[in-house]
Amino acid sequence: MPVAGSRIVALGHYQPRRVVANTDLEMVVDTSDDWIRTRTGIVSRRHADDDETVPEMARLAAEHALASSRIDAATVDLVIASSMTAEHRSPNVAGIVAAAIGTGGAAVIDVNVACSGFVHALVMADLSIRSGSARRALVIGSDKMTAFTDPGDRSTCVLTADGAGAVVIEASDVAHIGPVAWGSVPSMVQAVRMQPPTDLFAQDGRAVYRWALTHGATNARKAIDLAGVDIADIEVLVTHQANLRIIEPLAMQLGLSDRIVVTDVVESGNTSAASIPLGFSKWWHAGRIPADALALLFGFGGGFGYASTVVRTPQRDRCQTPQASI
Ligand code: ACO
Repeated sequence: MPVAGSRIVALGHYQPRRVVANTDLEMVVDTSDDWIRTRTGIVSRRHADDDETVPEMARLAAEHALASSRIDAATVDLVIASSMTAEHRSPNVAGIVAAAIGTGGAAVIDVNVACSGFVHALVMADLSIRSGSARRALVIGSDKMTAFTDPGDRSTCVLTADGAGAVVIEASDVAHIGPVAWGSVPSMVQAVRMQPPTDLFAQDGRAVYRWALTHGATNARKAIDLAGVDIADIEVLVTHQANLRIIEPLAMQLGLSDRIVVTDVVESGNTSAASIPLGFSKWWHAGRIPADALALLFGFGGGFGYASTVVRTPQRDRCQTPQASI
């Protein structure tokens, strides 16, 4: 089969066991359920326990994806993991996951572009398949943001959360992952950061908010143009899940408000690199996203990096649902 590109054939996710509601945070910091809902849309989020590490959440999301499409891990020849909160510099997250699931020698790469990392990782995997270096790739976003969040800082602790999402892509005779529109904003390099000397998560929330609503739609439209499709063809929008007050106006600006707009931030908070594959997979397995549909993915955050691409959702006969345990 001639390889023209790749397509998504499986999605999976993992969320930590511990659910933390806004009312739980009212007991810890000077905040309110009303402030959090009104400013962010977040109602609850998951916090990881000690055993729910970045690679472990990544492994569980990967195994969910593989199992849901009955894919043998041994056939995966590339693993790319995106994270900015990995506990160890080496071995990397991709290497730990590849060894744990039994890929039998896949190439293992970690990328760190914070919240847009998953989209960057996905298109790098797609390019690897297009070049002939891989045929089946596992792409993961996994972050444990709470490990880098001051639980007493009300400006960040109400936002950040933990989780992982994964997709499997494989060589295809039709390209179902579009070209990427990506870049960075040098003047905003410090807008999202791990702040020295404590290395805790900090951001200029208003600057990020302004950028997303001033430039986000332009980037997303570029990906649609590069894919050679029309905005009318887009059925699903999955943006970085940072704030409902960004997601909804962005959907409006793009003319996609009447489509399926993933708003998993409401129940998952901001899980950084995990947020796009986590929301995508949760809604897919809940039957809220149609098969064989065009979805626009748009990530933005630390770096200050951003990336958009158009992908086709899997066919249902390939990617089964649901898995009761997740
Ligand atoms: N509860 C109650 N009050 C609070 C809280 C809280 N949890 N946090 C802040 N406040 C107060 C502030 O102290 C401030 O009070 P003051 O006016 O008396 O000084 C007031 O609320 C307003 O604070 P701002 O920080 O200006 O609030 P804003 O309306 O900008 O909302 C937010 C903050 C939610 C972070 C918003 O700016 C945002 O979502 N920005 C985008 C962030 C983003 O998308 N990041 C993505 C990249 S980073 C990543 O994903 C890892």
